[in-house]
Amino acid sequence: MIKEIDLILEQFHSELEQQKTLAETANLKAKYLGKNGLLSALMKNLKELSDEEKKQLGQKSNSAKSVIEKALQQKMNQLEIDQMNQKLQAQAVDFSLRDSLFDRGLNRGGIHPVHSVQREVEDIFLSMGFEVLDGPYIEDSFHNFEALNIPADHPARDMQDTFWFADHQHLLRTHTSTIQVRGMQSRKPPFKFIGPGKVFRCERTDATHEMVFHQLEGMMVAEDLSVANLIYFMKTLLAEIFQKEMEVRLRPGYFPFVEPGFELDIRWKKPDPKKSEQRHSGWLELLPCGMVHPNVLQAGGIDPQKYKGFAFGLGLDRLVMVRHQIDDIRHTHSGDLRFNSQFSL
Ligand code: DAH
Repeated sequence: MIKEIDLILEQFHSELEQQKTLAETANLKAKYLGKNGLLSALMKNLKELSDEEKKQLGQKSNSAKSVIEKALQQKMNQLEIDQMNQKLQAQAVDFSLRDSLFDRGLNRGGIHPVHSVQREVEDIFLSMGFEVLDGPYIEDSFHNFEALNIPADHPARDMQDTFWFADHQHLLRTHTSTIQVRGMQSRKPPFKFIGPGKVFRCERTDATHEMVFHQLEGMMVAEDLSVANLIYFMKTLLAEIFQKEMEVRLRPGYFPFVEPGFELDIRWKKPDPKKSEQRHSGWLELLPCGMVHPNVLQAGGIDPQKYKGFAFGLGLDRLVMVRHQIDDIRHTHSGDLRFNSQFSL
């Protein structure tokens, strides 16, 4: 009978090796160790044996039982690990699959056109030695108005419809000119920097107006600066952006923080929507700018007797619209993937 136990063990091991699933392996437990299992069946014949034989057989059967239990447990553990690995493999990102999906036309993410123009303009100015500064969206009225020569009772405040906070002290910045103030206060001339970012206006939206849009402010302060320097930098910027020399003109423009203040226009060939090949030219208002007002230099802690400055405020959304011939600013932040995907890299 001892031999029979060895045979049962042998049979068990070869069967165990073939198991592929947890459920099947659990069945083996019943087959060998269960009430009606092979080992129990053998033990039913114990009565006919001598005491010595009973003892030997009992020991043998017990050790066989523990061998089977251990082996089963090990196998179950292994199967569980295999199963988990299979699941993980199925979930893992298969990069070769991803590439082939893109090849078949699946949408690839890209950089938003406003953001890519912003990066481009940043690069142009960085190459000319400008710093790139940032500023908070939530401002106080000093940085947004007073320091920029717009006192509380000044009618120019009406030029920019403002989102005020309930405390009537704080607001969402209406322009990136706030960055001028912070920039001046934290450095000593000569310096030059730009400050791109979102701005907010409490306005009715239409094809050319959004409540949230993007500007890029620029400022240079040094001892001998004139309108000629301003024009030089603006023309260099435009030539880089449009990849050719641009014809520009300066018109007088009123902004309380600059004196003189200008509207810089570029000569632009507008596509005629009715006759697609025919284009008509015109002047396009693109870049308000000017020589920094002495009061603004003073508010920024700079001696206006000694230093001069120029500043400009580029409308980034406007630039994107001109460049890509987009007819409605509201498309740019609509989140509509049909629009965005046209610009994905
Ligand atoms: N801050 C002005 C606006 O949002 C734009 C502007 C005009 C900025 C003239 C300037 C400037 O720096 O010189 O309407």
